[in-house]
Amino acid sequence: MPKCKIILDCDPGHDDAMAIFLALGNPNIDLLAVTTVVGNQTLSKVTHNTRAIMEFAGATHIPIAAGCARPLVRTIQTAPEVHGSTGLDGTNLPKPTIAIDSRHAVDLIIDTLKSHPPKTITLVPIGGLTNIALAVRKAPEIVELVKEVVLMGGGYHTGNRSAVAEFNIIIDPEAAHIVFNEKWPLTMIGLDLTHQARPDDQIMEQIAALNTPISQFVVDSLNYYTAGYRQRNGYTNHAPVHDLCAVAYVISPSIMETLKAPIDIELQGALTTGMTVTDFRPQSTTDCHTQVATKLDNSKLWAMFIDSLKRLDK
Ligand code: BDR
Ligand code: CA
Repeated sequence: MPKCKIILDCDPGHDDAMAIFLALGNPNIDLLAVTTVVGNQTLSKVTHNTRAIMEFAGATHIPIAAGCARPLVRTIQTAPEVHGSTGLDGTNLPKPTIAIDSRHAVDLIIDTLKSHPPKTITLVPIGGLTNIALAVRKAPEIVELVKEVVLMGGGYHTGNRSAVAEFNIIIDPEAAHIVFNEKWPLTMIGLDLTHQARPDDQIMEQIAALNTPISQFVVDSLNYYTAGYRQRNGYTNHAPVHDLCAVAYVISPSIMETLKAPIDIELQGALTTGMTVTDFRPQSTTDCHTQVATKLDNSKLWAMFIDSLKRLDK
């Protein structure tokens, strides 16, 4: 089976780091490029973190490019309450030495798409959509080149940054509006799905038992991240590892159930800006280029993740 080629656009972030490990460790993924965008922390911090994570995992050959340092229209909102002041608080990665690609992330995305056969590369954004929106405005022809967009963001019945808006969408709703309205096949892996993606104590023990530097980093990351969720949201369980789900879907779409539905982004609501308005009326779903993920096989997700951690250690 040919590998799935992907470009990961991210803002690490603890759960972004998990998504990077899954992409690097899974034998069915060919990670062509990693691009960074302001989100969980400032652009310089998330770019530093991306370099540190990639180098730590031994992935020194994959281009990394820094992208947009602010949203298209709005002021910057980061998430220190979730990921700390560094974006990866609770962990201690060695200082990265690998170089960054000299291109802007938008150009690396466009160049990579143009240098491969059409419809062979999946875009996997797991942060705000600023880079992807700018790429499609700069080179509209990429809509025809992309195989599909599989993104973590949004939700059809709940939000996290507001009652109805999810963080990756609300931080740059204008960018999200552009990305959701282009006619490429798009799968929204939103909060309805990712809230099912939680490890339990047994899974955490299995990860810890791998006893490798990467597994130790994963345990430190998820413990920090879960402690914050417990304190803020009154969770008693482990926190949902949102971004992991987008990569997992690319690897194995059958790990999730999906429903076709048009989705649009609210830009002007007094209470609802950044909402991913999803239309489940039966008459709306014909000829629809978007779908939402609804149900996750959580055991398969963690088995897949643990397998990738084992392979990264070799
Ligand atoms: C999303 O927001 C970020 O904090 C996470 O990395 C994830 O991409 C979840 O709402
Ligand atoms: Ca993210």
